[in-house]
Amino acid sequence: MIKRETIEKIFDTVRVEEVIGDFVNLKRAGSNLKGYSPFNDEKTPSFMVSPSKQIWKDFSSGKGGNAVTFLMEHERMTYPEALRWLAKRYHIEIEETEQTAEEKQKQTEREAMFLVLDFAKNWFKSQLYDTDKGKSVGLGYFKTRGFRQETLNKFETGFSPDVRDAFTKAALAKAYKKEYLIKTGLTLERNNQLIDRFRGRIMFPIHSMSGRILGFGGRILDSSKKIAKYINSPENEIYHKSKILYGIYQAKQQIVKDDQCILVEGYTDVMAFHQAGITNTVASSGTALTVEQIQLIKRLTKNILVIFDGDRAGISAAIRGIDMILEQGLNVKVLLLPDGEDPDSFSKKNTTDELILYIANHTRDFINFKASLLQEEARNDPLKKGELIRNIIESIAKIPNGIQQEIYVKEVAQIMNLSENVLFRELALVLKGISRRAEKDVLRKKQQESLKPIAKSKSEIPVLSKRDVLEREIIKLLLLYGNKEVKVEDWDVKEIPEDNSEPVLEKFERVTHIADEIYRQLQEDEMQFSHPVFKKLYKIMIPKYLERQPVEISQLMTELTGEEARIISDILMEEEKYNLADWEKHNIDVKTKETTLGWHLMDILLNLRRLLIQDLINEQKESLKDVTSEADRIDIFNDIKDYLFLFKLVSTRLYRLA
Ligand code: CTP
Ligand code: MN
Repeated sequence: MIKRETIEKIFDTVRVEEVIGDFVNLKRAGSNLKGYSPFNDEKTPSFMVSPSKQIWKDFSSGKGGNAVTFLMEHERMTYPEALRWLAKRYHIEIEETEQTAEEKQKQTEREAMFLVLDFAKNWFKSQLYDTDKGKSVGLGYFKTRGFRQETLNKFETGFSPDVRDAFTKAALAKAYKKEYLIKTGLTLERNNQLIDRFRGRIMFPIHSMSGRILGFGGRILDSSKKIAKYINSPENEIYHKSKILYGIYQAKQQIVKDDQCILVEGYTDVMAFHQAGITNTVASSGTALTVEQIQLIKRLTKNILVIFDGDRAGISAAIRGIDMILEQGLNVKVLLLPDGEDPDSFSKKNTTDELILYIANHTRDFINFKASLLQEEARNDPLKKGELIRNIIESIAKIPNGIQQEIYVKEVAQIMNLSENVLFRELALVLKGISRRAEKDVLRKKQQESLKPIAKSKSEIPVLSKRDVLEREIIKLLLLYGNKEVKVEDWDVKEIPEDNSEPVLEKFERVTHIADEIYRQLQEDEMQFSHPVFKKLYKIMIPKYLERQPVEISQLMTELTGEEARIISDILMEEEKYNLADWEKHNIDVKTKETTLGWHLMDILLNLRRLLIQDLINEQKESLKDVTSEADRIDIFNDIKDYLFLFKLVSTRLYRLA
């Protein structure tokens, strides 16, 4: 964990306008800076950065906060990632606390491995560009495959010469330890001899979401050789095959902008698509997609387009894997390439315009696509029809959204030539096994009721204001579930009507970490707790949770006065609405539990933000009284107008939630 002093130093040093200036083009506007929202496409700039207050606000999406939350929102970093990024940018040395000897050891080990990987990336690059073999064989290979220099730069590709231990020798000469060369898998030890894992290959470094090198893939140059076409880094402390997506670092910005991620199979497919200008593309690197990879994409978008090579063999197998994406609440579309093509070959045979047109015309909804495939199968083997119906219904049942399910049932009925009733009955049967709606409803009611009496509880705290009640509820959520992940409903701003009517929102679901969500939403309005005890508790707990540390109640108590400790135990003693044991007793499955908890979280946060924005508006109105100059008056009016818009945005969300 990062030391508190270090965190304070980072916050003291960092200039929000400089950090944001790295990503957004900002222009002076009075005492503030203005630019186009990096979160929405817009025609008039509504993105504001205040150097004096060290905050930013995006009036088109309602997001806002400090330099750290900007990196969390825009670069999708976690809180510690953002802190480390800022420390690096401002040359601040990070001091860690509370690390056990074992943790410290692990930490240094990981850092040492990252250093080795970074050295390796640069070394492979220099082999490609600065050696005769690299230039003739390596660069030559890339060029014959039609890759341009800018693409090679973007992906930092390299070359490993066909020499037994050239890399290992070079690394040892630079004083990198043998231990870490082996741990990263770059070097193998055989019969007491050190040899390079990657020999005679072109090299694809694999970047993390934040751009660090996690490992490599290496491709042979001569396909006639009877050895594996690709070899990859082995599993280790840093490289977890199931958690990486090739190209995610290069694609993440565009994925957020397009609100879509394109998924292909191979390294060269990703590079070719980027080269063709389709830069929201990543690859699962030849393995079946994993839940962790989907979670990674979900940090960026809920829409995914899977591109299949034009050979039919692999399709049925791949299709089964896609149910998992549905289960995670993502929208899946699929695209089949023409026979014998993969994204690499296809993108090179067509211009970018043709490619975009092909994608637009051939992209199909997954359920629709699957239904057609099954329908074909059923035609060939009518006896299997029942099984196939069940199969597609099971896919539909995985979709968390009921309305969406209904639309799909109707579509499938048409494609497979069946009555809707049969399908709905089948769906009901499948769903029965999945969730118990009645219980869910009872629970929701109970929860709504139990929200009210808190203020009247017997505790001796003086009467709590509405705001205090909400703050208390946030503390409670943190205490009980700070490190939990829940599913929440959220809304994208699709359109902001000129005529002051309601903004057009589109609902989607995402998974979020409770403490992260609280921290980010409260930062958006520069919200401070008003109740002194809740403020203190928040300050103690939130940094721990943001770094995914447990908050031990017993340890927390030692930092509190008697009065504060009593408030905590009051909170903990209350009948726990979401008590795990209770959930199990009522036989409510994990999914339902998470949805309800997520709903509660958003409800509390939006209510609190609404109160706060209301306060801000009142403050501004109040300040109008003392204004003398017309220019100031207009400034304040504009501020009020912006805040009114935010108020409307939050209210609309809240209203939709209920
Ligand atoms: N792959 C792998 N090991 C292999 C074969 C494939 O790790 N022995 C992974 C690589 O990430 C590869 C992806 O699976 O990029 C897709 O494999 P394939 O389609 O065979 O390769 P391409 O990416 O198309 O590579 P190329 O076009 O250079 O043949
Ligand atoms: Mn290929």
